[in-house]
Amino acid sequence: MSKSILVRTASSSYEVLIDKSLLKSYNFQWLIENKQILVVKDSEVPEKFLNNLKKNLAQSEPKNLISFEIQTSEENKSIEGIKPIYEVLNQNKFNRDCVIISLGGGITTDMTGFVASSYLRGVDLIQIPSTLLSQVDAAIGGKTGINFQGAKNNIGAFYQPNLVLIDIDLLSSLGKSEISEGLAEIIKHSLIADKSLFEELEQKITNGSITNDDDLIKIIYDSSLIKSSIVSSDEKEKGDRALLNFGHTFGHAFESSMALKGFTHGQAVGLGMVCASKLSLVLGKIENEEYERIKKIVKSAGLPTKLPTNFDYIEFKEAMSRDKKILSDKLRFITLNSIGRAQISENIDENTLIESLKI
Ligand SMILES: NC(=O)c1ccc[n+]([C@@H]2O[C@H](COP(=O)([O-])OP(=O)(O)OC[C@H]3O[C@@H](n4cnc5c(N)ncnc54)[C@H](O)[C@@H]3O)[C@@H](O)[C@H]2O)c1
Repeated sequence: MSKSILVRTASSSYEVLIDKSLLKSYNFQWLIENKQILVVKDSEVPEKFLNNLKKNLAQSEPKNLISFEIQTSEENKSIEGIKPIYEVLNQNKFNRDCVIISLGGGITTDMTGFVASSYLRGVDLIQIPSTLLSQVDAAIGGKTGINFQGAKNNIGAFYQPNLVLIDIDLLSSLGKSEISEGLAEIIKHSLIADKSLFEELEQKITNGSITNDDDLIKIIYDSSLIKSSIVSSDEKEKGDRALLNFGHTFGHAFESSMALKGFTHGQAVGLGMVCASKLSLVLGKIENEEYERIKKIVKSAGLPTKLPTNFDYIEFKEAMSRDKKILSDKLRFITLNSIGRAQISENIDENTLIESLKI
């Protein structure tokens, strides 16, 4: 049962379509007929998916169709990493009327999106995210970019795609930890905006896993809808989009903390959401019962809920003060008013911060 979302931002509108078998069956004709097409593929996405996509694209009679593979790592999400994509476009004389398609996880959609935003001052872009995280998060909302001189995503552009296709078949080749990374963002969306999604996740994640396709499509839809509606109302992160940082202020500081070296982004965010919920509890905004439910769901998603014994508070605080999402020297966090409702909390004092780390 396919589901569709219309994202309307100040700069453009586009569809996010969620279903099975989209690579094989989506009719691309309206976007690609008689145009030059470049598919940028993550090297880890199995070849069969690219073959299915290319076979389908060919039926819409593009002028030419080229695919190019990239290695995805945070190191390669860089100026050097995107240079070969510009070279392929240039060498093949792609004009302003061309279409670039990404087929990969968040690194691929961020890199490809940035190339599309800047090649000939902007060309058409189709995002086909292939990880759960990129399906519910990275591919929606138009943030594109690369890393530069050790800082994450500090070169980039807000650039909306023409279409986002979420094909759940792509998830079949992901490992357990990549699924957990995506679940972290889905849980986050439910916590900040949708109590009934949280309750559904409690049932589905806690009692095993999401096994049937319709359930998976509905959960991706509900989660993407939250991201879509927040970015629709705040395309350039001037207001409500900050709510999407729930758990991330803690998470980013954990990621650069030695004691948590080796933690994935999703694991750091999982732990960050538990701390942000504890902060909400300490501030008297949520009940202990809600806090315990949040901890339980994070754990069921395969994410950590305890800090390592060698965790160093001083190092953590330094990392936190470097975070661009904390305004000036005020400690600013996203907190919960209840499960399904979030707000920005400012001027958090240090004792409260220390209490929120006691999880
Ligand atoms: N633009 C945004 O709004 C936004 C939001 C969140 C995250 N991000 C960015 O997204 C990135 C993280 O995204 P991610 O978690 O998708 O990481 P990723 O792109 O690194 O993908 C995770 C891993 O899965 C592999 N992979 C991808 N699809 C696969 C498939 N179908 N089968 C098998 N393996 C597959 C990749 O090669 C990689 O090893 C970060 O760079 C982050 O900054 C951007």
